[in-house]
Amino acid sequence: MKFTVKCENPASVKTGCVILGVFERRKLSDAASRFDKAAGGLLARLLHDGGMDGRSGQTLLVHYPAGASCERVLLVGCGKPGDFNGRAFRTVIAAAAQAVNASGAGDAVSFLADLDVADCDSYCKVRAHVEVTRSVLFSPDELKSKKDKDSRPLHRLGINVHAEARQSARKAITDGEAIANGVELARTLGNLPGNICTPSYLAGQARALGKTSTRLKVSVMEEAGMKKHGMGALLSVSRGSDEPAKLITLEYSGGKPGARPVVLVGKGVTFDSGGISIKPAAAMDEMKFDMCGAASVLGAITACAELQLEINLVGVIPTVENMPDGKASKPGDIVTSMSGQTIEILNTDAEGRLILCDALTYAERFDPDAVIDIATLTGACVVALGEHPAGLLSNHRPLVNGLLNAGQASGDRCWELPLWDDYQSQLDSNFADMANIGGKSAGAITAACFLSRFAKKYHWAHLDIAGIAWRSGKEKGATGRPVGLLVQYVLDRIAE
Ligand code: BES
Ligand code: MN
Ligand code: ZN
Repeated sequence: MKFTVKCENPASVKTGCVILGVFERRKLSDAASRFDKAAGGLLARLLHDGGMDGRSGQTLLVHYPAGASCERVLLVGCGKPGDFNGRAFRTVIAAAAQAVNASGAGDAVSFLADLDVADCDSYCKVRAHVEVTRSVLFSPDELKSKKDKDSRPLHRLGINVHAEARQSARKAITDGEAIANGVELARTLGNLPGNICTPSYLAGQARALGKTSTRLKVSVMEEAGMKKHGMGALLSVSRGSDEPAKLITLEYSGGKPGARPVVLVGKGVTFDSGGISIKPAAAMDEMKFDMCGAASVLGAITACAELQLEINLVGVIPTVENMPDGKASKPGDIVTSMSGQTIEILNTDAEGRLILCDALTYAERFDPDAVIDIATLTGACVVALGEHPAGLLSNHRPLVNGLLNAGQASGDRCWELPLWDDYQSQLDSNFADMANIGGKSAGAITAACFLSRFAKKYHWAHLDIAGIAWRSGKEKGATGRPVGLLVQYVLDRIAE
């Protein structure tokens, strides 16, 4: 898919499809009005005849509009002008991308980025246009012997902007494409099944990524190395699996030498059966998505490296498979973490925190400016927040604000839950320094409380992405979130 910046007249541009906005009710946008004049009032008649009234997401395709130079015109409903913010804009772009891709047009020119959007300048609109279009056109058919690709898919999209916005629009396309590449990598890896995407596979992917940029250094620690470092918690999770655990480190050096890095830690459980505390069979296939935190780290680093961002960034990915067998950890087992703290494993299905805690201790060696871990950690987070925001818990107020703001700006939002000491006692154990579960209530918070005990030496935030990393049901598949949030956070830090 190729994106270009355009500065055209909607009526005279030669293209397979012109895309125009219509507001509620039956209100033509400026570009649509210009088009309508040349087309002798065609659009006004269509709206008047009830073809559409401009509600958000509606589309209407017309072929060979007389008086214009395009083969098709696609009208897209934008809702009420007063409600037209960044989120509404993204919904409209998604509807437009869907419809134009199904229209048979190989190329198109969109005038949607000309619309006024609250809190969104040209850069923001064009970047969203690119990101959302790429996301809608993505199809997870890698492992289908017959691809379900459209026979004549859209392959060229011009995005029209006012002349003075050309420069920023070009930058927006570059940034948007890099982010889309990162999101796509995260989705592709997330969708791969557990029999293909093993810890070794993820390590291979990371190594391959390392070859794409001279600023990127990738290393993989084997179980022997983990043993040497005393990572007893991490190792305890993969004991029941035939797949060896890996600890992947990616170091991107785009900033000043010696500048303290942002460290991203991603949960990489390539399949979570629950272990001896085995999960119920229903929807257990979805536990192949339990490495989406790891995938988001790889995706975010891909995007940052492609954009050659001036920052030092480290990715740390503990990756394992959680399986039951004769060697597997048992409820009641006590392990010693790299930090020296002992943990009573009361439930082997609370494995994410066990691999993350050692990765968090390991992260200390990078002298981080901030550490963000990203994990499909708890079903409780899905209960608390649903599938819209990631759960955010942190020991540092500016980091919270930075992530909340980046979420708003990117449309990939998170929402804070309290990390209060009041909850810590739920982790008390009679036999070890702590238990790995905190009882029935506040499961997302007690999971974060557990992690906080290994993140005392730096500014840290935890993103629980259990609700947002993939969709279930008919649209089942990885979303690539929160790559958008992470890259936005990095961009905002650099701009500061
Ligand atoms: N990977 C799961 C969390 C999860 C479950 C995400 C369902 C999305 C949907 C995690 O390893 C897990 O099993 N967590 C347990 C923790 C519990 C045993 C304290 C959970 O959430 O049930
Ligand atoms: Mn689990
Ligand atoms: Zn898990």
